[in-house]
Amino acid sequence: MKLIDSHCHLNDPAFDKDIEEVIKRSRDNGVEYCVVIGYDVKSSKKAIEMAEKYNCVYATVGIHPEESKNAGDRELAEIEKLTEHPKVVGIGETGLDYYHIFSPIEKQKEIFIKQLKLARKLNLPVVIHSREAEPDTFDIVKEYAKDIKGVMHCFSGTLKMAKLYTELKFYISISGAVTFRKAKTLKEVVKGIKIKDILIETDAPYLTPHPYRGKRNEPSYLPYIADAVAKIKELPLEEVALHTSHNTRNLFNFP
Ligand code: NI
Repeated sequence: MKLIDSHCHLNDPAFDKDIEEVIKRSRDNGVEYCVVIGYDVKSSKKAIEMAEKYNCVYATVGIHPEESKNAGDRELAEIEKLTEHPKVVGIGETGLDYYHIFSPIEKQKEIFIKQLKLARKLNLPVVIHSREAEPDTFDIVKEYAKDIKGVMHCFSGTLKMAKLYTELKFYISISGAVTFRKAKTLKEVVKGIKIKDILIETDAPYLTPHPYRGKRNEPSYLPYIADAVAKIKELPLEEVALHTSHNTRNLFNFP
């Protein structure tokens, strides 16, 4: 079985000490590729360095809503420059976060819209973070990203919202939260959308799936997420692996 972790932060300092072992464990557990996601200029550069070092890593570059207060045109120009690297497969993560308002909402919107415009100009897919920010995220996606490809990462909205995104041809990415007993809404989302619209991700080092909840997350735990999706959709695990890998390759245009 081969899986792709569509969203992880191996560029996070949490992995500085044992990255070699983390990569090895992920490969041993069937994770064929990891997409390492940038959240500011520095982490985007680090994602690219990892992609250069490891065949199994691809990178995205972008500015997370929490970091948007520190970003302006100079940082966005740096992000644009970084997309020239052959292993950069997308822009992000970008979006809106009204749960932690670490950056003013107007600033979050400005940096989000500018990254969507950049993705459109460069014809790259976007990785979108949205936390407690519906329907603003949807309104902005509808206006600025309707003709580009993208994914709603760590999706935490309702089934109705998920369907609106899939109508825009956006993928819905399912995180380790799907393994939590209380994740009723997320389970409804998985059940209610089609497997052709689903990606899986760890978002490591965050959102560790059951039974490792409370520990640092890592891509080798991705099979727990694939397994939870398979059970909810009543599909063989192999089929979930095949579809989600195909969807991820299609989104990011892996060679
Ligand atoms: Ni993330």
